[in-house]
Amino acid sequence: MKMLSRKATFNSHGQDSEYFLGWEEYEKNAYHEVENPSGIIQMGLAENQLSFDLLESWLAQNPDAAGFKRDGESIFRELALFQDYHGLPAFKKALVEFMSEIRGNKVSFDQNKLVLTAGATSANETLMFCLANPGEAFLLPTPYYPGFDRDLKWRTGVEIVPIQCSSSNGFQITESALEEAYQQAQKRSLKVKGVLITNPSNPLGTTTSRDELNLLVNFITAKGIHLISDEIYSGTVFDSPGFVSIMEVLMDRNYMNTEVWKRVHIVYSLSKDLGLPGFRVGAIYSNDVAVVSAATKMSSFGLVSSQTQYLLSVMLSDKKFTKNYVSENQKRLKQRHQMLISGLQNAGIDCLKSNAGLFCWVDMRHLLSSNTFEAEMELWKKILYDVRLNISPGSSCHCTEPGWFRVCFANMSEDTLNLALQRIKAFVDSSTATNNNQSRHQSNKNQRRKSFTKWVFRLSFRDREASERL
Ligand SMILES: Cc1ncc(COP(=O)(O)O)c(C=O)c1O
Repeated sequence: MKMLSRKATFNSHGQDSEYFLGWEEYEKNAYHEVENPSGIIQMGLAENQLSFDLLESWLAQNPDAAGFKRDGESIFRELALFQDYHGLPAFKKALVEFMSEIRGNKVSFDQNKLVLTAGATSANETLMFCLANPGEAFLLPTPYYPGFDRDLKWRTGVEIVPIQCSSSNGFQITESALEEAYQQAQKRSLKVKGVLITNPSNPLGTTTSRDELNLLVNFITAKGIHLISDEIYSGTVFDSPGFVSIMEVLMDRNYMNTEVWKRVHIVYSLSKDLGLPGFRVGAIYSNDVAVVSAATKMSSFGLVSSQTQYLLSVMLSDKKFTKNYVSENQKRLKQRHQMLISGLQNAGIDCLKSNAGLFCWVDMRHLLSSNTFEAEMELWKKILYDVRLNISPGSSCHCTEPGWFRVCFANMSEDTLNLALQRIKAFVDSSTATNNNQSRHQSNKNQRRKSFTKWVFRLSFRDREASERL
């Protein structure tokens, strides 16, 4: 008799890609400057560790916030008992104001349309539960965040249909790619309920252009479907063109209070912008009261603890701090990004031009032994086990072109990044040398083969001459 559920026993969790496998390998042999200097360097984790000092110095100056105190008085009991799933009003107010600030105050958010969740993971899944039935589909532009195969599909039974984007236009979303994905879904008899994008994109590290956003609004208007914009990286935009939120586009087009307005939903989280994935703070923002109401009830399954909400309500209400944090963090990301791309360039490797996020989308097509996903896997394994860097292969992000990799730059020290760059340069140099040797060897072999053929020819000629003479 089977004792566990189908969900628990079937491998439908979407966590079996190389993206997750690389993390497991890293855990077995993690790099440490002193204890394991030849270990694997983690470059497959989109964590932001660049601005911890800013958070820590704020905490040191504001001990009450983390010490369960308000105006010097303990609020321990209040926090311990607080369990309203609507969330702490002071925190929701601070969070919507922070979201506006990141968008240059071009859009304002209403805290009553915000639902708190345990990270963006929970926000995305909750939205799937609210917007789609099992067996219905969402369209996602490729390459996409590998965690979506788990977050959107596993427990909800929702299907993902890829919108195939290509390097020919820098992986931008096009009208024909959207239409094609829609038709693919129909061919598979899947009812399309919406499109989900990440803006800025994980794994591309690029912001979605205004043209693309307008295209998406036109598409969901024409098809009568939803649009989810996962804006978890909105505060990481460190270069032009700046970040444009989907809400800004709707407001510019005067779509407020229309049917389309109600079908657009934003996902947010403090995991990336504030570098706090361990705190599990995420949110859904929706203009549809029915979605807000259902998602709030569902949020009971993944609430944010009240002491976390309290601490962050005090931190995010400190406008001087948030302003400085956001701009200083972006400055540091920009510098790190530059370090990675110039280090890679030095090794003869290019990246897709990017302006946001905690990673680069790296083009290693020239290092493949053939233009296939088998060759991408072969290269990924070499980089993981020989070079000892964990990077994410494009195939795990459903990229349709072999040879692209996502490489993270904000989860390590500058020294570690330098070491990683040295390792990759040494690897590329040695493979180029091996290839040169191989081609020299090959040309020597060809030379030898030619002389051998000549010799055989001469020999047989001589034999023939001899036999003729006989
Ligand atoms: C696009 C995207 N959405 C959601 C998540 C999950 O974030 P969280 O830690 O807030 O659950 C991630 C994490 O990498 C992400 O990149």
